[in-house]
Amino acid sequence: MKKFTSVQDVADPKALVDEAIAVKNSEKTSAIGKNKTIGLLFFNSSLRTRMSTQKAAQNLGMEVMILNVNNDGWALEFEEGAVMNGKTVEHIKDAAAVMGLYCDILAIRCFPSLTNKEEDSADKIINQFIQYAKVPVVSLESATRHPLQSLADMITIQEHKTKEKPKVVLTWAPHIKPIPHVVANSFAEWALACEYDLTITHPEGYELSEEFTKGATIEYDQEKALQDADFVYVKNWSSYTDYGKVLPVEEDWMLTNEKLKVSNSAKIMHCLPVRRNVELSDEVLDSENSLVLKQAENRVYAAQTVLKKILETNF
Ligand code: CP
Repeated sequence: MKKFTSVQDVADPKALVDEAIAVKNSEKTSAIGKNKTIGLLFFNSSLRTRMSTQKAAQNLGMEVMILNVNNDGWALEFEEGAVMNGKTVEHIKDAAAVMGLYCDILAIRCFPSLTNKEEDSADKIINQFIQYAKVPVVSLESATRHPLQSLADMITIQEHKTKEKPKVVLTWAPHIKPIPHVVANSFAEWALACEYDLTITHPEGYELSEEFTKGATIEYDQEKALQDADFVYVKNWSSYTDYGKVLPVEEDWMLTNEKLKVSNSAKIMHCLPVRRNVELSDEVLDSENSLVLKQAENRVYAAQTVLKKILETNF
């Protein structure tokens, strides 16, 4: 594996899920990363991604460097040919090249702007790191996808499913501010790659890009979508067509136990952090069917398996 930025970087996604479960259940630590360094670069806040990736790298014997780019680094320039007589201090082509000399693997979190659809869709920051750093790059959530989260989600479904092809429902949830489409995009493409029966439900105006949802059933009626669901993944995202906007929604889309009565005692998933009693109710989050902590735990094994694959194939 040369890089890990989407499900397309993985030859066999189902086999990777099985390998992560094997890592979790048998070889929790190894020395394969001894004398290797990973740089974790954060352009945005994080709790789970930061701690789970650091733990995963340490479990493999790696050295870990962490840089909060916006607070601790120089202000970076991303435009080719820019005349840098303004606020930016260092061009990405220089900064990434230097980081590639210090680190054997770079892992980067860089959210979308939600103001420029074309630039966000081009995933400019992570792709410039890939171009200039010349070392394997891992996405810690980019402008389009969150693949380590999705791999952890697939591990969690694999561990809890009771039938080969469960009905998996991704439901839009309310939020107070514009949220990226990243987790929903990524979850959809991984669930489809794992050949699950995926239904996506959201109010009109919240359609995701077909690049990620082709093959899923789109259902605007949340109650119909939840019928017989085995897993319900709850997530907010802003409008994609009216890019980055929060559109008015009349119906109440917050997930409750009452709404889940039509499901097949569905297991509940959310990537966290979650706005309690806005996206879904306390009673759902704190119920026995909630898998949110299992998902968070599996972030370690998702990251550890991806780093192990990169170490095995590049060094
Ligand atoms: N789920 C997730 O990526 O959490 P953090 O934003 O805290 O890393």
